[in-house]
Amino acid sequence: MGVLSKLHPLRSHSGAAQGGINAALDPKDSVKDHVYDTVKGSDYLADQDAAEILCKEAGPTVIEMEHMGTIFNRAPDGSLDRRAFGGASYNRTIYAADRTGLALLQALYEEVGRDRKIRVYEEWDAIDLIVRDGRVQGVVAMERKSGHIEGFAAKAVVLATGPAGRIYGKTTNSHESTGDGCALAYRAGAFLKDMEFVQFHPTCLPHTSILITEGARGEGGILRNAKGERFMERYAPHFKELASRDVVSRAIVTEVREGRGFPDGTVRLELMHLGKEKVESKLQEIVSYSRTFAGIDPVVEGIPVFPAQHYMMGGISTNPKAETNISGLYAAGEAACVSVHGANRLGANSLLETLVYGKIAGQNAAAYAKTATASTLSQADVEASQNTVHALLERKDGETPAKIRTEMQSTMDELVGVYRHPDDLINAITRISQLKVRYTKCIVTDKSTTFNLNLIEAIELGHMLDLAEVIVAGALARTESRGAHVRTDYPKRDDQKWMRHTLASVTKEGPNLTYLPVTVTEFQPKERAY
Ligand code: FUM
Repeated sequence: MGVLSKLHPLRSHSGAAQGGINAALDPKDSVKDHVYDTVKGSDYLADQDAAEILCKEAGPTVIEMEHMGTIFNRAPDGSLDRRAFGGASYNRTIYAADRTGLALLQALYEEVGRDRKIRVYEEWDAIDLIVRDGRVQGVVAMERKSGHIEGFAAKAVVLATGPAGRIYGKTTNSHESTGDGCALAYRAGAFLKDMEFVQFHPTCLPHTSILITEGARGEGGILRNAKGERFMERYAPHFKELASRDVVSRAIVTEVREGRGFPDGTVRLELMHLGKEKVESKLQEIVSYSRTFAGIDPVVEGIPVFPAQHYMMGGISTNPKAETNISGLYAAGEAACVSVHGANRLGANSLLETLVYGKIAGQNAAAYAKTATASTLSQADVEASQNTVHALLERKDGETPAKIRTEMQSTMDELVGVYRHPDDLINAITRISQLKVRYTKCIVTDKSTTFNLNLIEAIELGHMLDLAEVIVAGALARTESRGAHVRTDYPKRDDQKWMRHTLASVTKEGPNLTYLPVTVTEFQPKERAY
């Protein structure tokens, strides 16, 4: 078995997940309540059978990770400590200070290191997914260190390639979050599901968009506008700052647009009343980020915050077995859409989904590989990928990928944000398709074979442009407002017409959209209130 990663695995973006992982571990809590909160948070677009698996497996998964060595915070009685998180009716977020993702990643990576049967290929970029005869045959990848391009024949492939947030300029996502797995699967014939649902995290630092964890509000942080008002009391009288993320993000944008923000276009997240000891022990990273990147001390003053892109609810369409529409191809984590998050993900459900559905994907891929015939990946497949890369390197004139990427990001920031106007979406479609044409003529100025990040950025840009096109097409087609997708011309949710998933498949003319019913088991849709 091989793990192919474009980064050292410990640098993968899961390491940036701060606030925690949800599990109904307390006897007074219940799996059913966790499912309900998840479905309500999703604005009823989550498939409830998939959400049931997620929440049922949450407890055993957290315990398994704890036994594997994850150092979670403890309550005074020695049990796993829990904090409040957005959209949750019970404090069920297990955490490791404000670096929960890193703690989980380290424990898992050590486990992988102990297993002699797993070979890790670090700093290899997958550049093509090979599908033939309706089934996956493996990937072609390029080693960063040498520029060498090689085929990895495989009977089964699990894509766990994470986010695509760098399609936006203002994002909490790392520079490597370029949606490679999603784009490769889409090009190879996999369906992408619900890509129009893009989450904006309410509390990010201005300029850098560094995440200020929801855990800060879970610990008691309060949002105030420039008039000193605790404005969330108006938008979500019961949950206030801990309403779901779509609600809090819209509230902040509205406060600023209506002139109640601070002169720098932000609101303030206040932690001062929590006391120095609590802030400095439970929110260590937040204190450090605020001091270093915003020049303020959250122990004595409010943190300036504004929403930024944070998470893609959509991804490679899978069923609850993590299977895609291509035999032998599985997906999990942010690259996938099963869908448990629907139109809006609850905080601390993403690490959970990655672990629960990552395990399901791995188990099912292993079982499939045991019975599948040998892969037919060939030298011709490798040469086809080599030719694509060489053509990119040999081009002498053209624009730099950086210029096109900057324009793509500003298009998405300005036109496909928290509120979506139809004219903006039409404009975005035009701009993205023009950028795609310009991309076919872009130039890679660095011709070297060693750590050629200029070349890698060009390849990644091609992935992001394909996904941006799918996001905007889905957003324009969906004439309703649901969760994180808010259309100014269709401000209401329309269950009659739109309680269905968008499926995008690739064609020469762009994405073709079809629709799939939502699975409802226990919870009939009703109006969401926090
Ligand atoms: O706010 C946060 O700590 C983010 C967590 C998440 O996206 O699940």
